[in-house]
Order: sequence, then C-alpha cells, then structure tokens
Amino acid sequence: MRTIDFLLTGGDLQEKVHEANIVVHRLEASCYELLHPEVYGSQEQKRINSTLKTVDKLIVDSHKVALDFGAGTGNLTGKLLGMGYKVTAVDISPEMCAILRKKYRTYLDSGQLVVVNLPIEEVDFNKGEFDLIACYSVLHHLPDYADALQKLVIYLKKGGVMYLDHEASPFYWKGESGVLANLVKNLYFHSNPIINVLYFGLIGLKIPCFDYSLSDYWHRNDHPLNHEKIERIFEKSGFSFFRRLDYHLKRTWVWNPLFFIYRYTCRPEMCFYVAKK
Ligand SMILES: C[S@@+](CC[C@H](N)C(=O)[O-])C[C@H]1O[C@@H](n2cnc3c(N)ncnc32)[C@H](O)[C@@H]1O
Repeated sequence: MRTIDFLLTGGDLQEKVHEANIVVHRLEASCYELLHPEVYGSQEQKRINSTLKTVDKLIVDSHKVALDFGAGTGNLTGKLLGMGYKVTAVDISPEMCAILRKKYRTYLDSGQLVVVNLPIEEVDFNKGEFDLIACYSVLHHLPDYADALQKLVIYLKKGGVMYLDHEASPFYWKGESGVLANLVKNLYFHSNPIINVLYFGLIGLKIPCFDYSLSDYWHRNDHPLNHEKIERIFEKSGFSFFRRLDYHLKRTWVWNPLFFIYRYTCRPEMCFYVAKK
C-alpha cells in the first residue's frame, strides 16, 4: 500500500481516489444501511437528529436551503427534508444517486430535493446559496478535502452553518494513557468486526469484503485527516465560530459488552465540526 501511495501524486491521486469511491460505493449501495450499524444504529441516529436540530437553531435568518455532499443513501438528506429543508444532494456514485431518487421521489417531484451525480470537487453553485452545508462520513473520502472545503465555504451564506460529521478524532489512531485503557481500546476495536461477522452469520448473510484502502484515503494511521488544516480554513474564511466535538461510536447492531468499559476508559474516537460563518 505504501508503494501505491508513494507513486500517486496530484491528478493521479484525485483520479484514483474518485475511481475507488465509485467502485466501492457501487458495491455497497444496495446493502449500505445494513452494513453500517455504526451509522444506522438507533443511538447514532438519535445523536445525528439532535445535532441537526441544534445546527438548525444556529442559522441566522434561515431560508432552509441545504447542501448535503456525499449524500449516500440519504442519512442526512432524509432528515433535512423532514425538517423542511430544500436539499441539494451531491454524490459521486451513480448507484447512491439512484437510491436517493427512488427513496425520496415525492420530494424530487415537488422540487424540494435535487440530486446531483458529480464529484463534489466539480460542482458549481452561487456564492452564499446555502444556509447549511453538511456532510457525514465524507471528508476522508476526498482526495483533497481541504481544497474542497475551501471552495464550499464560498457557497455558504453569512450566518449559515457548516456541519461535518463522522470523521476520526485526533485520538482514533493514538494510544491511550495507561495499560488498561490501551487493552480495552484494542479489545473493543478487534471485537467489533468479530461480533458483526457472527451477527450476519446468524441472520444468514455473508459480509462482503471490500477494499477501502484507496476509497477511504484519509482514514489511515499513516496519513490521518489533518484537523488543524480544517480549522485553519474556518479561521482564514472568517467564520464567527467553530468547534470540534468528539464522541464514542457504537459499531455493532447487537450489544457489545465492551462498549460500556471502552466509553469510560478511552478517549472518543470520532468527531464532528459545527462552524458558523
Ligand atoms: C461513507 S458514505 C456516507 C454516505 C452518507 N453521507 C451517510 O451519512 O450515510 C460516503 C459517500 O460519499 C460519496 N463520495 C465519495 N467521494 C465523493 C466525492 N468526491 N464527491 C461526492 N461524493 C463522494 C460516496 O459515493 C458515498 O456515497
């Protein structure tokens, strides 16, 4: 893998990461929600709903116009439509877009939803068009996430909010202080895939094995997402407020007894940003 990274530069990287995302999400699309208990589990869904409500309240003079990029099967899009937002959902995957169009046909027909099948790097909107720009589990898929964010900031109106969720916190790849916490973290991280495989086996499903190494390019120990870089964009673009909030993620459909211990002994491994322009 190191060799591939080493050989990839600039345009090459962009093209390869985009290609990998199209392939992975083509394969994942039809079973995406089933494959991701860490997203579609009830606790995480509750957390997203409540965060979106808070975000909504922060927006000044809102016309409820939102951009959801890397929209997938509509995790954020569906909630925003329910909250009365007019949503532009952008996704690089034709299969994800097809699901979005089918799932939210009535909103599409009424014009409350627009689905755009493009890489977010290639979209072109008006300056200050959106009250809210949101994504969930997308930044680490983008070849140059800082560059993409810098461009998106322009499409956010003054008084609007950028909400970027489900990225690895700075603690994700780091060891914990103390032998016990390290042991718990290792046990918890290793036990999740085993529980998932057992669960899917029990309900008669074989979990397909995907290669995420290029599609999830910045979700890697040797080149993790750079949080300072993200925060510098908010600073440079004159945001009035921004904050990173960290949280623990439940990663299985069925109960993992280690989660409770993990939550109380280890630092949160995930995070989201709320930034007000
Ligand atoms: C992990 S999924 C998250 C989907 C959805 N946001 C959710 O919360 O479930 C990442 C999504 O980002 C999309 N994606 C990846 N790279 C992209 C890019 N450059 N532009 C637009 N969408 C992209 C993928 O096709 C996929 O649907």
